[in-house]
Amino acid sequence: MRKAIVAGNWKMNLSIAEGKKLVLDILEEMPLLNDQQEVVFCAPFTHLQAIHETIRLKGDKNVFLGAQNCHDKAGGAYTGEVSIAMLQECGVTHVIVGHSERRQYFNESNAFLRSKTDALIATGNMKVIFCCGEPLDVRNSNGQNDYVEKQLNESLFHLPAETIKRSVIIAYEPIWAIGTGVTASSDQAQEMHAFIRSLLSKHYDAETAQEVPLLYGGSCNDQNAFELFKNPDVDGGLIGGAALKASTFLPVINAMQ
Ligand code: PGA
Repeated sequence: MRKAIVAGNWKMNLSIAEGKKLVLDILEEMPLLNDQQEVVFCAPFTHLQAIHETIRLKGDKNVFLGAQNCHDKAGGAYTGEVSIAMLQECGVTHVIVGHSERRQYFNESNAFLRSKTDALIATGNMKVIFCCGEPLDVRNSNGQNDYVEKQLNESLFHLPAETIKRSVIIAYEPIWAIGTGVTASSDQAQEMHAFIRSLLSKHYDAETAQEVPLLYGGSCNDQNAFELFKNPDVDGGLIGGAALKASTFLPVINAMQ
């Protein structure tokens, strides 16, 4: 059975002290997770070590540390970049790959995202939170399915079934919904998630399609998470703004229950 997952993407927000306090407040109040549920905190690079220690302090084995990016090379002359081994040293187990902000502001191509995905998979134990999703003009011309299919084809669907089942979480994040306060409707989210699951079925098989968690992201918050997560193909969320406060993140975690 696939897992339910709520991942907080802090982006370039919070000081280290604020991040530690946020995690402590959340872990204090959070319901006990079962082994089919995960919470992931995706913190900035500079915060990872401290947040790792904070998570371990509470010792919930279903709470994980994520990074928001990584480089595909193992090391060398790549000024300003951080390798996967460096992230692992800080306790990172999950990495967001292909967030639309990385695609848009840092020109990350489908080919580069494929290479990062491969490097993460090669470690044997890292999880990839792979983001896909269309901009507004594509949605307005009803081209979202082709757009998302191309993203997945070019970066993800070369992986073998066993790998995709074990190591990949797909996050559908329509760009027009990210940080805008406009959420995809429950029906729009379900429709795209069902489409992504049908792609997994087509490229792999029905069993693989059932095993991969599909998260929704884009203005998902304490007000709408329950409505979104009750869809059969929405297995949780990748949360930006609402992940920055315990008062808004805790209800999203509760909505996964
Ligand atoms: P948002 O961001 O929840 O603030 O819209 C989601 C994301 O970018 O992952």
